[in-house]
Amino acid sequence: MVRVLILGLGMVGTTFSVGLERIKKGEIKPYGVPLANVDLGITINDIEIVGAIDIDERKVNSSIYDVAKRIYNMDNVPVTLKDIKVYPGLGGEFVKDLFPIYQADGDHKDTMDLVYKVFEELKPDVIVDVTTTQEGKIYNTWEEYEKDVLAGKAAPSQVYAYLALRYAEETRPVAYVNLIPTPVANNPVIVSAAERVNALVLGDDGATGATPLTADILEHLRERNRKVYSIAQFNIGGNTDFLALTDESRNKAKKETKSSVVKDILGYEAPNYIRPTGYLEPLGDKKFVAMHIMYESFNGVIDEIIVNMRINDSPALAGYIVDLARLAKLALDAGIAGTIYEINAFFMKRPAPLGSKNIARILAYQRLIEFINSIRNKEMATEEEKIPVQ
Ligand SMILES: NC(=O)c1ccc[n+]([C@@H]2O[C@H](COP(=O)([O-])OP(=O)(O)OC[C@H]3O[C@@H](n4cnc5c(N)ncnc54)[C@H](O)[C@@H]3O)[C@@H](O)[C@H]2O)c1
Repeated sequence: MVRVLILGLGMVGTTFSVGLERIKKGEIKPYGVPLANVDLGITINDIEIVGAIDIDERKVNSSIYDVAKRIYNMDNVPVTLKDIKVYPGLGGEFVKDLFPIYQADGDHKDTMDLVYKVFEELKPDVIVDVTTTQEGKIYNTWEEYEKDVLAGKAAPSQVYAYLALRYAEETRPVAYVNLIPTPVANNPVIVSAAERVNALVLGDDGATGATPLTADILEHLRERNRKVYSIAQFNIGGNTDFLALTDESRNKAKKETKSSVVKDILGYEAPNYIRPTGYLEPLGDKKFVAMHIMYESFNGVIDEIIVNMRINDSPALAGYIVDLARLAKLALDAGIAGTIYEINAFFMKRPAPLGSKNIARILAYQRLIEFINSIRNKEMATEEEKIPVQ
């Protein structure tokens, strides 16, 4: 079993819950789950959602079923989600411009205690962060980080990660999977602490949509020695994530996780504009993505690649969570702590640890499979050792 707790029951968290339960019922095929056909030793049926945490007062204290139906008007919502509850979280002051915030009793410290009790009660193996993007700092020392966490000044995701580390130390090993741009896995103080307490921190910012495709196209151009002159890539969407990103500080966090891909892959900086650009409500969750890449080829000719796409935003990330939950449990069971570049490089826009390179996803996929095989081979060798020789 892999016990999963969702932080932020928005479009992504809800789509993950509904899609997972439908796969388990045999209602849909696991398309969009990258490793569905790779044997991880942990199946999709082994994933159990134990709860969600949110701060939207319309969601807190209801069930995931209710949120899927009432807030997102989703069809085919499995009744199994009726028993899974939404608990109150922390950090409401960071998003009070976006929706009505649930008012918990007490101060920041009381709310932290309340969230910690939820962790203890639900006993998650994996905590998945799909909350609203917030600007967050990279801390130089643990003391500086802890001071901001306790004072309520750190980004909410960084506070949740702090509580997850405490939970790992006091209760059981846990993985914190950060799928939003706020730096968590890219905070070396958090990763070092995770190593000490048998926790895993994966992140940051799920790479869906145009980013992995851009990375693969750039690798293609690099391998053929075509000189890239410019890259324009923009996204316009109508979900609340895009609405949240109309705020400049939040968009800055997103831009930083998206544009590091260029130099990392090409080996040189090419002028680029890569970021979510706008909110257009009628597009809903199906964003419009456009890409233009201009480069020089043999004998000085200039070529251009132009891509236009409409992509369902939330399901793309939701499908990854199915694998990330299983991979995180696989790694925890193998006794790995800290962070794991092989997982981050495939799934994340800003793969931890801090300073790591973005690589093309076609290459990252091969490295990920090698990593999985190395763990699986060790597991099998240990199993063989346990079988007494006749
Ligand atoms: N393809 C993708 O959709 C994609 C890709 C990469 C990253 N992301 C990131 O994933 C996150 C979720 O995306 P979404 O489309 O579901 O957004 P959303 O706005 O629909 O959902 C965010 C949810 O988090 C909740 N929330 C906000 N602050 C919280 C807090 N402090 N504690 C607990 N809950 C909190 C909100 O109430 C909401 O339910 C966003 O940060 C987005 O940038 C999405």
